[in-house]
Amino acid sequence: MTAVDICDVHKSFPGHWGRGGAYAVRGVSLRIAEGEVYGLIGPNGSGKSTLMKMLVGLLRPDAGSCRVFERAASHADNRRSIGFLPENPYFYKFLSGAETLRFYGRLCGLRGRALRERTRELLQLVGLEEAAERRLGGYSKGMLQRIGLAQAMVQNPRLLVLDEPTAGVDPIGSRSIRDIILQLRERGVTIFLCSHLLEQVQEVCDRVGILYQGSLLAEGSIAELTEDSRRSCITLRDASPELIAQMRRCAGNCWESCTPARNSLESVFLRGIRAKMNTISPERR
Ligand SMILES: Nc1ncnc2c1ncn2[C@@H]1O[C@H](COP(=O)(O)OP(=O)(O)OP(=O)(O)O)[C@@H](O)[C@H]1O
Ligand SMILES: [Mg+2]
Repeated sequence: MTAVDICDVHKSFPGHWGRGGAYAVRGVSLRIAEGEVYGLIGPNGSGKSTLMKMLVGLLRPDAGSCRVFERAASHADNRRSIGFLPENPYFYKFLSGAETLRFYGRLCGLRGRALRERTRELLQLVGLEEAAERRLGGYSKGMLQRIGLAQAMVQNPRLLVLDEPTAGVDPIGSRSIRDIILQLRERGVTIFLCSHLLEQVQEVCDRVGILYQGSLLAEGSIAELTEDSRRSCITLRDASPELIAQMRRCAGNCWESCTPARNSLESVFLRGIRAKMNTISPERR
C-alpha cells in the first residue's frame, strides 16, 4: 500500500501588498510505500517543513494533491493514522511531561488504564521518566523535543511525520531517537522525516529526497545516491606494511590511497560516556 502520495504539489506564501511573497514548494512529487523510512534533506528554506505541513493537513497546497493511505491528506479520518512532530512544537508550559502525554492521549481517545500505561511506556521510551512530574516550562530544548516525539507516537500512528526529530538533542538522546525510529521501522510504521544531520539520515532512512528551492533535485535509496561507481573500498585487518606495499604494486595506477580506518566521533563519544556511566553508582547519576 502507498502510505504517502504527493503529486505535483505547489505552495507559495503571499507577501503584504504584493511584496515579500515566497515560493515554498514548486511541483514536488514523491511516494512513500507503507513501512518505509523516507528522509528529506535540503538547505534552510528549501520547503521541507511546508511540505510536511501540507501532508498532515495543516496547510492546503495551491495546486497538486497530497494523499495519505490513499485518502486526501486533509481528510479527518487520517488524523488517527498520523503522528506529527512539528519543527517548533508548542506545549502548555504549566503541564508536566506526564500530564502533557495524558492530555494528548485523551485527545486521541485513550482512557483509564490504557492511557496510564501508554503514558508510562512513552516516558520510558524517550528517557523522561525522572522528569515526568516536572513542568514543561522548566524542560531543556532536548527534553521538549523528546516529549514532542512521545506526543507524536501517543496513538500508535501508522505514519510518523518528524520535522527534525533530533534537533537540539544530545548525542545519547539522538542515538536513542534513531534507535526508536529503527524499532518503529521493524514494526512496519512508515516514517517521513527531515533533518540537517546527513549522517543520521543516511543511517535510518531507506530512501532520501534532496529538496532545493522547493523542487526535488534527486531521490533514491541511500545505496543508489551514495554509490561511486569509479571507486572501490577494501578493508584489511592487521595488515603488515609489506602486504600494503605489495598490494600497492599490484594495483599500479589504480592505487589512490591507504589510510587507517576510523571510528565515528559518535561511537567514540558514546563508548566514553557509557564507560563512565558504568563506573558511577546509580544513586549518583
Ligand atoms: N507561514 C509562512 N509565511 C510566509 N513564508 C513562509 C511561511 N512558511 C514558510 N515560508 C517560506 O517558505 C520557504 C520554505 O520554508 P520552510 O519552512 O518550508 O523551509 P525548510 O526547508 O523547512 O527550512 P529549515 O531547514 O530552515 O527548517 C521559505 O522561504 C520560508 O520563508
Ligand atoms: Mg523546516
